[in-house]
Amino acid sequence: MVSETLTITDNRTGATYEIPIEGGAIRATALKQIRTSQDDPGLACYDPAFVNTAPCRSQITYIDGERGVLLYRGYPIEQLAERSSFLEVAYLILKGELPTSDRLQAFAHNITMHTMIHENIKKFIDGFHYDAHPMGILVSTVGALSTFYPDAKRIFDPELRKVQTHRLLAKMGTLAAFAYRHSIGMRYAYPDNDLSYTGNFLNMLFKKTELRYTPDPVLVRALEVLFILHADHGQNCSTTAMRCVGSAHADPFTAVAAATAALYGPLHGGANEAVVHMLTEIGSVSNIPAYIKRVKAGEMRLMGFGHRVYKSYDPRAKIIKQITGEVLDVTGRTPLLDIAVELERIALDDEYFVSHRLYPNVDFYSGIIYQAMGFPLDMFPVLFAIPRTAGWLAQWQEGLEDPEQRISRPRGIYEGPALRDYVPLEQRSATIPD
Ligand code: CMC
Repeated sequence: MVSETLTITDNRTGATYEIPIEGGAIRATALKQIRTSQDDPGLACYDPAFVNTAPCRSQITYIDGERGVLLYRGYPIEQLAERSSFLEVAYLILKGELPTSDRLQAFAHNITMHTMIHENIKKFIDGFHYDAHPMGILVSTVGALSTFYPDAKRIFDPELRKVQTHRLLAKMGTLAAFAYRHSIGMRYAYPDNDLSYTGNFLNMLFKKTELRYTPDPVLVRALEVLFILHADHGQNCSTTAMRCVGSAHADPFTAVAAATAALYGPLHGGANEAVVHMLTEIGSVSNIPAYIKRVKAGEMRLMGFGHRVYKSYDPRAKIIKQITGEVLDVTGRTPLLDIAVELERIALDDEYFVSHRLYPNVDFYSGIIYQAMGFPLDMFPVLFAIPRTAGWLAQWQEGLEDPEQRISRPRGIYEGPALRDYVPLEQRSATIPD
């Protein structure tokens, strides 16, 4: 029952409209009854970048940007990061509840059994240039997987959907690792199914001549935590791409390729790389005040600071900061950490950052950890894509099962020329733009 309404008075006509408020929102289509002219299709909401548009209702991730709260299916991110494994969190995100021990074992088994990729995929990875960006390889190869699994088109078969979910969660890591090995000219390392999800990923990346790769448990745990923190984050740019392509009933491999492509953009999946560049450019703690001055003068932004949603400390950044020390104890200290800690201290005390409510975000420390673990900079967005696949698939499935969803098709506001007649070639003006 709708009990609250919004009353809108049209000053032009004096007409009033009662718009129901449901779950903190009004339906944009309710505004269509308000006409701006005789033949218009009804009042539209103009919202570039979807800043205040909710395209769906979701039960997956809750974010309170004011208080710095992030919950997956109701569970605080801090508790999950401390006590869960990545696959446990992926299960939670996909299915809505934490698994029992039997369910978790079966889920891990299903994913482990799908880590191999068809040998033909190796052939087209081989076709990429030697210095191809691994994210470019990942976008292409994950999309190509759909041609290997034609049954993926049957998106309304829940059993088949489950199989594609297992395949995608398993094969993203293998594709990513093969892309990396290709970019450094090393032989592909096949999955080791006796290792954990993240242990095996490290094996496929870093195995050299040893018969069996043994990952460092501290690094495995750090990667688990980083994967948990990146598993979902509401209706962000790549998730919106996933839902949008999914709404056209494309198969999930194709939709994940679209989401991965969105994540490839430097404003989304590439900020942690930019943080490492920034810290390297600063070079030493003594240069920080001068750098902050330039940021405040509007010359550049402080990378890894600020967020569209979080107006307090990003809870993911807090967790990453805590594990950074543990990782560096294993990998060796980097001067970048000292610069980052001091930069954060100075910025959090500075009137500009305080008044703009700019706090460290998830990317501020993650780049330092990834670099210390031996990942090259261009692998950073790939490391984001692997765990986010769990979120993309959960959001895709939720979209498919939501009876209110249809093919995504936002309205545009046309501001081009009015109707005009075709001008023959010889009569066109020389002032026409190049
Ligand atoms: N350094 C300095 N000033 C900043 C920064 C920053 N990092 N971020 C925002 N501002 C200022 C900005 O100049 C503006 O100031 P004013 O109102 O005086 O003109 C004000 O804060 C609001 O900025 P905005 O661009 O309107 O904020 P937004 O919500 O559109 O942008 C953001 C969010 C994350 C793109 C932005 O904060 C930024 O560019 N941060 C640096 C890049 C970064 O770390 N990105 C990772 C985001 S987290 C990863 C993810 O979840 O995908």
